[in-house]
Amino acid sequence: MNVAIVGAGPAGLYFAILLKHNDPSHRVVVYERNRLDDTFGFGVVFSDETLENVGEADPETNEAMAAAAARWEEIEVHYRGTVTRSTGHRFSGVERKTLLEILAARARALGVEICVQAEIRDLTDYSLPAADLIVAADGIGSMIRDRLSDRFQPHIDWRRNRFVWLGTTRPFPAFTFYFKPSPVGLWRTHAYQYAPGRSTFIVEASEETWRASGLDENDERATVAYLEQLFKDELEGHALLANRSIWRQFPTVRNARWHSGNVVLLGDAAHTAHFSVGSGTKLAMEDAIALAAALKSPRAIPDALAAYEASRRPQVESLQRAAQASLEWFESAERYQDTEPIQFAFNLLTRSLRITHENLQVRDPALVARVDRWFAEQAAGQSGRAVPLDPPPPPLFTPYRLRELVLPNRVVVSPMCQYRAEDGRPNDWHLVHIGSRAIGGAGLVMTEMTDVSPEGRISPGCCGMYFQDHVAAWRRIVDFVHAESEAKIGIQLGHAGRKGSTRVPWEGEDEPLVENNWPLIAPSSIPYRPHNQTPREMDRSDMDRVADDFLGATRMADAAGFDLLELHLAHGYLLASFISPLTNRRTDEYGGSLANRMRYPLEIVSLVRAEWPAAKPLSVRISAVDWVPGGIEAHDAVEVARMAVAAGADIVDVSAGQTVPEQQPVYGRQFQTPFSDRIRHEARVPTMTVGNISSPADVNTILAAGRADLVVLARAHLWDPYWTRHAAADLGYSVPWPPSYETLNRYRPRPR
Ligand SMILES: Cc1cc2nc3c(=O)[nH]c(=O)nc-3n(C[C@H](O)[C@H](O)[C@H](O)COP(=O)(O)OP(=O)(O)OC[C@H]3O[C@@H](n4cnc5c(N)ncnc54)[C@H](O)[C@@H]3O)c2cc1C
Ligand SMILES: Cc1cc2nc3c(=O)[nH]c(=O)nc-3n(C[C@H](O)[C@H](O)[C@H](O)COP(=O)(O)O)c2cc1C
Repeated sequence: MNVAIVGAGPAGLYFAILLKHNDPSHRVVVYERNRLDDTFGFGVVFSDETLENVGEADPETNEAMAAAAARWEEIEVHYRGTVTRSTGHRFSGVERKTLLEILAARARALGVEICVQAEIRDLTDYSLPAADLIVAADGIGSMIRDRLSDRFQPHIDWRRNRFVWLGTTRPFPAFTFYFKPSPVGLWRTHAYQYAPGRSTFIVEASEETWRASGLDENDERATVAYLEQLFKDELEGHALLANRSIWRQFPTVRNARWHSGNVVLLGDAAHTAHFSVGSGTKLAMEDAIALAAALKSPRAIPDALAAYEASRRPQVESLQRAAQASLEWFESAERYQDTEPIQFAFNLLTRSLRITHENLQVRDPALVARVDRWFAEQAAGQSGRAVPLDPPPPPLFTPYRLRELVLPNRVVVSPMCQYRAEDGRPNDWHLVHIGSRAIGGAGLVMTEMTDVSPEGRISPGCCGMYFQDHVAAWRRIVDFVHAESEAKIGIQLGHAGRKGSTRVPWEGEDEPLVENNWPLIAPSSIPYRPHNQTPREMDRSDMDRVADDFLGATRMADAAGFDLLELHLAHGYLLASFISPLTNRRTDEYGGSLANRMRYPLEIVSLVRAEWPAAKPLSVRISAVDWVPGGIEAHDAVEVARMAVAAGADIVDVSAGQTVPEQQPVYGRQFQTPFSDRIRHEARVPTMTVGNISSPADVNTILAAGRADLVVLARAHLWDPYWTRHAAADLGYSVPWPPSYETLNRYRPRPR
């Protein structure tokens, strides 16, 4: 095979090595526009796992890299005058120049031709036209990718923070993060050693801070002088070293396709991952391993390229998701400036979702013990309840107070419509559904969306709180929960608005009823979908009537003995549809600005707060985003939360979407938790988070990192009503059982 590789970075050189290693008869030429020692940047960092992968593919390269690498296990977080150290994170650092020298020497030894100072300007240059395979390993700004952009369909997301890659002679025995406030804003530094007496020192700041510092002139000498002065204490008298150290924005590169005909993208040309997860070189080298492996088996080149992309894409995208979470964390670091140092460090360490409370415990049990103890102390202070400290409970099993209500733990059973009521009346199904989940150990169980009037129902099967006998029907369930479990019980009150009068989902989700539809009301006359009923635009008398319904339901909920009341301001139902500009097109004082759109929902919050007993807490569930351009965005949600709490809510239950059918949600593990985190830190209000959370490790991580105060699980509780009890067993924590089940403890097998 005749192969032309453009770019002598880690991707191009390592692929050349593996190809020649697998079959010396290939002709492999690498074109590099610079000289090999002409590299930008200083050191790169790898995890041990990367070195292992490299080791398997080419032991010689691995040996040389291992010999050149600096190794360490610690991460240090310097923040507000405190240093938090974490260990057990095995890293290796190598000078980029050394890495390239090692790769180039090995490539040449295997017979690879490396042409330096050979810039490829077109696919017709040098040996490219004659090549069986053209490898675009030409980095972030790939010329080949751009030339064939109609085929690869690149998408480049230029991130908003600015960074500069510098070096220093100061040794950093740990991966060191500094968060340094200054009169112009917060500076972040990522520093790590790559050779004795040589470290990488990357400085990052928001665009505002960077501009306010005057460094936007991009004068390398001025940058070094400014940062040496700023980090005088941290550098301990050492100098900063520049090497084409210009301020840049990080581009996250994605491509719809990585191959076309006989051309393939490798490394940064195909994808990038933010430097804060230190994985760009790893990805580049792992791409090379995958491409060389795909070309090993006898098949046509395009088939091999397709196999390469199919094998690599899931792993790359998973890492890009982690990198995205990490870069967003660094972009938002200002948000966390008031958190306690221990929580700040835990938050930083768990930012990309790759490290959880559970696996940090394996790496660094002492740090996790400190975190848990700190968290338990906070919980004791906040709840006014005694919490053991030696050892402390996992964060999930700490109490939480809202007004006079103290929840025994932080797990909440999410509201889940059952569509099994008749005339709004809950029955045995609801008793067993809610009762079993209360026995299952959650701290708070929520009823489904319970409607304040018959016309406010989603379907004929929805629960309500509007007929006098509804009180007794609910009371039976509430009394059971109180008598037979430690759980508290909350009711979610709502009105379906334009999403009402539909069938139960198993007969057609969101489909209008076949007969007996009831008229709908909404802020604006816009049907949910073209074939759904068009609602009537509400006038003030409609608003008064619905407000009365909410008040009536609130009184009845108190009479039924509920501990907490949640108002449903989410998912496109009546109150939510006032908030979203997609569903509220009013031109009066209830439409237009966010403040106007919030006017009616806030009126309901205030009225209900005044009616609901002062000892009992009020929650609001909101949709933090609509997942549609022009709809509610996360920054709006911060304001919505702030206003709701000012009007009397005690906590904000942060959900998302379901406003309009054309929404494009971005699903994933904990996909809505970033909204809770943002609201909790920016609006400074207590939050619950919900959405694709299923493991005790994730719940503990969310809580200890301060991303929410309570964690709400819906579908996980459908699978497992005893979710909290199983979490206790997994975490080695003991929770009290109902007396009838105590025999479980008696017959527990003895440890051998
Ligand atoms: C600030 C910062 C810190 C980083 N830290 C780390 C880290 O700690 N760990 C880590 O693993 N990664 C890190 N990276 C990422 C890492 O540098 C890249 O992901 C990695 O170098 C990608 O390898 P590559 O071979 O795909 O591209 P590159 O290393 O960029 O190599 C591409 C090569 O192609 C050459 N070239 C480009 N166009 C042409 C052309 N038309 N003709 C001929 N030659 C051409 C270039 O000169 C270059 O030598 C960091 C990146 C940045 C910006
Ligand atoms: C069967 C079912 C019914 C639901 N009903 C409600 C509801 O009544 N009120 C509400 O706010 N959310 C409702 N939801 C949404 C959930 O409360 C939750 O926000 C969503 O399922 C995401 O959480 P999860 O990933 O843990 O399931 C329902 C979800 C399910 C699966």
